[in-house]
Amino acid sequence: MANKDHQYSFIAEWYDPNAALIRKYQLLFYVADNTVEMYDIKNRRLFLKRSKCDSVRYEDLYVGSTVNVHSRKLTFVDYADDFTRKVLGQQKERTLAMIKPDAISKVGAIFDMIYKSNFLVSNAKMVTLSAAEAERFYQEHVGKPFFDNLVRFITSGPVIAIELMGEGSIDNWRRLLGPTDSSMARSEAPSSIRAKFGTDKTRNACHGSDSPGSAERETDFFFRSARKNTAKLNHCTCCIIKPTAVKSGQ
Ligand code: RTP
Ligand code: MG
Repeated sequence: MANKDHQYSFIAEWYDPNAALIRKYQLLFYVADNTVEMYDIKNRRLFLKRSKCDSVRYEDLYVGSTVNVHSRKLTFVDYADDFTRKVLGQQKERTLAMIKPDAISKVGAIFDMIYKSNFLVSNAKMVTLSAAEAERFYQEHVGKPFFDNLVRFITSGPVIAIELMGEGSIDNWRRLLGPTDSSMARSEAPSSIRAKFGTDKTRNACHGSDSPGSAERETDFFFRSARKNTAKLNHCTCCIIKPTAVKSGQ
C-alpha cells in the first residue's frame, strides 16, 4: 500500500516533437496530496512547481509506466533514488505469466482472475514461438524426459505473455496457478487456474516464473529483447482498449 508520507522519485522522458529530441526530467510524486514536481535534468532547474496532478496515481508508479502531466506524455525510465527503488521494487514485483496454447480460448476468464487477484498488467502480447525460442525460454529443462514434448506443445499455437506486477506477484501468481499437474490441481486447489483450465501435467493452461531471477529473464525475453513480430497482418484488424476502460478494470 502507498504510505501517505512518502514521496517517490523517477527519471521521466518526454519526446519533444518541436525539437525532435527526448527531454529528461526528475519527477517527484507526493502521495499525501497527489502532487507532482519536476526538474529539468540537463538544465538543472525546476521545471514544474509542485502542483496537484490527478492524472498520476500511485498505481502508475513503476518503471515502464506512461503518465500524463499537464498534457505531456511522460515515460518513467528509471527510479531516481534508492528509497523509490527499494520500496516500489518490492511493492511492484514483476513476474511473467503465460497463457499456453491449450488455454488461449480461456483468455477472458483468465484475465478476469488476474484482475480479481489485484495484479496489475504492465505488458501483454500474443506470439507464436519458434522451436528455437521455446528451447531458449525453457532452457532450465533441457535434457529432461518431458522437454521435447513441452517444446512441441508450447509451439503448437499462439501463447499470450503477460507481465504482472504487485507485491509478492511471483508467489501469488504461482499460487493462483496451482500444482503443475492439472489432476493434482483439481484435488488440491480446485479454484486454481490449472484445476479449471488444464488437462494434464504438460497441458496445464498457464506458466509462471519461479524466482526473481527467472522473472527478470522471462519478462526480458518477451518484452525487452528484440523479438521478431509474429503478427500475420492478414485478414486482421487492430482493436484498442482505451485507457479509461483499462483503468476502471474492464
Ligand atoms: P511452468 O514453468 O510452466 O510455470 O510450470 P511449473 O513451474 O509448475 O513446472 P516445471 O517443472 O517448470 O515444468 C515446466 C512445464 O513443463 C511441462 N511438464 N511436463 N512430466 C511431464 O509431463 C511434465 N512435467 C512438466 C508442464 O507444461 C510444465 O508446466
Ligand atoms: Mg517452471
